[in-house]
Amino acid sequence: MRTKELRIFVYEYNTVWDLPEADQQLVMAAREAAKDAYAPYSGFFVGAALRLADGKIVSGNNQENAAFPTGLCAERVALFYAHATYPGLSVQAIAVTASNINGIVDGPVSPCGSCRQALIESEVRYKQPIRIILDGKKKIQVFEDTGNLLPFAFKPESLD
Ligand code: THU
Repeated sequence: MRTKELRIFVYEYNTVWDLPEADQQLVMAAREAAKDAYAPYSGFFVGAALRLADGKIVSGNNQENAAFPTGLCAERVALFYAHATYPGLSVQAIAVTASNINGIVDGPVSPCGSCRQALIESEVRYKQPIRIILDGKKKIQVFEDTGNLLPFAFKPESLD
């Protein structure tokens, strides 16, 4: 028997203005995208913005459905749009935010397991770690890659 200890790094900031400028820009794009979310059932409006390898910013938001499981999270809407439209460009960073009736949530917004899995696939496909910025009114968290959010992930090599 062996015991392993994992070290996970998370960098925390009090406000968006304390972030490096490129991260601030991405959070602002995510906040804009959240305004167009289609979330009549949850009232939870999520925005995600990605920075691609050429510096382009692409965004998405959650799209709900009366048949609840049919809906999709903001992160995957943005990610799948980016890979469908710009398959030659890796994703370098993602910012995620969410608002409800009271405005931006205290946060930080934490991506669901399926979105973490989709982010891992993108990292493996493009051999590019994705910087993850999770927005919130009270706290913002930054992770250097998805491994810090989803250790022991199922990856393509798991199929071997
Ligand atoms: N949602 C996202 O878009 N991203 C997340 O990281 C968490 C949850 C959406 C799904 C659903 O439309 C609503 O938020 C409530 O779960």
